Amino acid sequence: MDIRITKSNSSRLNDVDFENLPFGKLFSDHMFVADYYDGKWHNPRIEPFHNFSLHPATMALHYGQAIFEGMKASKSKDGTPMLFRPEMHAQRMNRSAHRICMPSIPEDLFVEAVTKLVQIDQGWIPPIEGSALYIRPTLIATDEFIGVKPSQSYKFFIITGPVGPYYPKPVRLLAETKYVRAVIGGTGEAKAAGNYGGALLPAKLAQEKGYDQVLWLDAKEFKYIQECGTMNIFFVIDGKVITPPLYGTILNGITRLSTIELLKDEGYEVEEYPLTIDEVVEAYKKGTLQEAFGTGTAAVVSHIEAISYKDMVIEFPNPGKGKVGEFVKHTIDQLRSGSIADTRGWTVKVPVEETMEV
Ligand code: COI
Repeated sequence: MDIRITKSNSSRLNDVDFENLPFGKLFSDHMFVADYYDGKWHNPRIEPFHNFSLHPATMALHYGQAIFEGMKASKSKDGTPMLFRPEMHAQRMNRSAHRICMPSIPEDLFVEAVTKLVQIDQGWIPPIEGSALYIRPTLIATDEFIGVKPSQSYKFFIITGPVGPYYPKPVRLLAETKYVRAVIGGTGEAKAAGNYGGALLPAKLAQEKGYDQVLWLDAKEFKYIQECGTMNIFFVIDGKVITPPLYGTILNGITRLSTIELLKDEGYEVEEYPLTIDEVVEAYKKGTLQEAFGTGTAAVVSHIEAISYKDMVIEFPNPGKGKVGEFVKHTIDQLRSGSIADTRGWTVKVPVEETMEV
């Protein structure tokens, strides 16, 4: 499908302080939009960034038919914009769409839309390691209707904005023993807006106790470690790297998968194993718990400083300096900046030449 491009007459780029980037507050000059109705996608376009006008009965606002992705663009040392595994994000978006009963987006349209948008707003990619252009593809139901059924019309849009680190410091987690994020058979594996809404109260309560995020346990026994809500989680115990299997309840993270592949290639023993919080406590008491870190597009790799569980607090030695997490973070940063050869074909260069203008 041809993407119609209308460029903005002026840019807000000069107002951006790349040295002090907050996360999620700044948005680039353009956005992508496409509409779905009559069983087909229509009018894919890139336009100056703008607000939407929505009918108050727009279904996404009432029944949770809203999903999204999180991706990043970076610049290689020679200034070429690069995406990280974009086709995997397109595939995950469609798995989320399937679960929330929404239409799929042709993978090539998704990747082309992201590529063209990044090409046009490439000046917004921060030239600083650890910062990136965050990309937020989003799909919402747009029928104007009160009643529970799948919408017949949808809007797919992509916005981007320069971001600094999501967690500027090592993270303190509270293992949650009252609330749950997801159950087997539920929507936990989808990147559905509703999953994040349900996690806000427990996260707020954890923050009031001095923790940054919740460490989710399984919904049946409050025993098996799941994820942090903003990141997948890895532990290093006695030299072995352990991350929970997907269960169907946790996000199938692209950074998670990349971490597993990188560590295995480096010779680490990595196991997707149903780790319990009690095993983590036991390893801590025995002195074999070496480090923990979270992975995610926004978080990249964030070291974990402490985990509170019931009446105890596990404090990690040298938080921020965990050897395994640091290796993964450094390797992903180097891949994103093209400082090391990408032998796996994970980074995709965005052509820098100008595209057709309307
Ligand atoms: C991402 O990692 O891209 C996410 O969507 C997580 C969110 C906390 C920003």
